[in-house]
Amino acid sequence: MPRSRLRPCRRFPPAREPQPIDRSAANMSTLTTERLRLRPLEPRDVDPLVIHQSSPEVMRYVPGGIRARAAVQALVERSQADWRARGHGLYAVEHQETGEVIGYCGTRALEGGAAIELDMILAEEHWTQGLGTEAAAAVLASAKRAGIRQALAVPHDANVAAHRVCEKNELASRGSESHYGIECAVYAYEG
Ligand SMILES: CC(C)(COP(=O)(O)OP(=O)(O)OC[C@H]1O[C@@H](n2cnc3c(N)ncnc32)[C@H](O)[C@@H]1OP(=O)(O)O)[C@@H](O)C(=O)NCCC(=O)NCCS
Repeated sequence: MPRSRLRPCRRFPPAREPQPIDRSAANMSTLTTERLRLRPLEPRDVDPLVIHQSSPEVMRYVPGGIRARAAVQALVERSQADWRARGHGLYAVEHQETGEVIGYCGTRALEGGAAIELDMILAEEHWTQGLGTEAAAAVLASAKRAGIRQALAVPHDANVAAHRVCEKNELASRGSESHYGIECAVYAYEG
């Protein structure tokens, strides 16, 4: 066919430039559960976490109680350092329906030592809907993928909700020990 009679094909748009794949640590570390999205904590999470952690009811069994902004900032910075150093740390927990940050869940150094602790705090209005159990399950699976062989949970003896989250995730009960200056139950996750 002579070149002049060739018409441009209209049905197919020109091929787009290939989009770069986002292989950043944050993107690769995002977890999605039935109702939640979890991603590594970032400085923008400080504001909502300060609100949750200024509630005496929420912080009732958390060592040190209510956390001021500086303490929350330090928590986020330590978590970011943990993500860089050992490929795991604390996640912001977002509700998928609203995108709201409803708390955090993840791993960190138990009392700053070598042992790894499973830690979580959710805003009170989201309690008792199974979200804590759901977040912990996703975090423990991701810890295993990150090569974490053991994570301990050390809830205050009277913290029934935290005990139940451990039991429902089938963590092994290891008696009780003193941590952060209080008597705690010890549960272990073996990855
Ligand atoms: C611990 C915490 C994350 C649990 O979150 P959650 O979303 O309420 O947990 P779930 O809905 O998955 O509930 C797990 C179990 O605890 C029970 N539970 C939740 N809140 C409870 C409460 N205040 N009192 C008694 N039981 C409670 C639930 O009924 C459920 O048990 P069940 O399935 O036998 O009924 C949440 O209570 C929290 O943020 N607490 C404050 C911070 C804290 O103490 N963190 C733990 C540090 S180790």
